Amino acid sequence: MQKSRIDKFISTVLSVNKREVKLLLARKKVMVDDIIITDAAFQINKFSVIAVNNKILQREQPMYIMLHKPVGVVSATKDEIHKTVIDLLHFPNKETLHIVGRLDLNTSGLMLLTNDSRWSERLTLPQSKVPKVYQVTLKDKLTQDYIAAFKQGMYFEYEDITTAPAILEIMSDYVAKVILMEGKYHQIKRMFGRFSNQVMQLHRSKIGSLDLDINLKAGESRELTADEVENIFS
Ligand code: URA
Repeated sequence: MQKSRIDKFISTVLSVNKREVKLLLARKKVMVDDIIITDAAFQINKFSVIAVNNKILQREQPMYIMLHKPVGVVSATKDEIHKTVIDLLHFPNKETLHIVGRLDLNTSGLMLLTNDSRWSERLTLPQSKVPKVYQVTLKDKLTQDYIAAFKQGMYFEYEDITTAPAILEIMSDYVAKVILMEGKYHQIKRMFGRFSNQVMQLHRSKIGSLDLDINLKAGESRELTADEVENIFS
């Protein structure tokens, strides 16, 4: 998480000069997370609770939200035409949230939102290798050939990348379960596109060890528990 110095924060928020900040620190008027701070270089982050002269200057709680994204809602914080995933939420300060791994307009399922960029980076960095599970319904019948092709990876010329090994399980003639360790642009649709097979329905059911809560109907959301926030990586 991005860190900064307490003296810089106070000087900016209270519009006071360096000398005045030093005085506040020396007079023990500055508290971070309920502890008196006198060191001007003390490191704070966006979730540090900061008070000067007993007045709170910053108190932002980390938020972690699971949303059952419906089809037809756009994975963006603002959009001129479509409803956004933020429009569906009913949490205070929802404008401070960002999306952890987008889904296409016509994809449904598990979407995570947070204001904690360290957590979202951990989930989305390719080297973290957090698996994402999708249910895919196809226009044409699946064959065994798909399994090897997904495992081997596919070269996408436009970005000059080869996809990481992905797992494909055939659930029935037209339904596959796909597990990706990454999230390239329209990745699943493009991978099935190699077989000229059209994706009719796409639904994300799991990220890391976190399943979409079956009690959430499309459009509904809830906060994650502390355990879910931590254990998603395991
Ligand atoms: N792959 C896609 O093609 N679309 C998504 O929304 C997610 C993965």
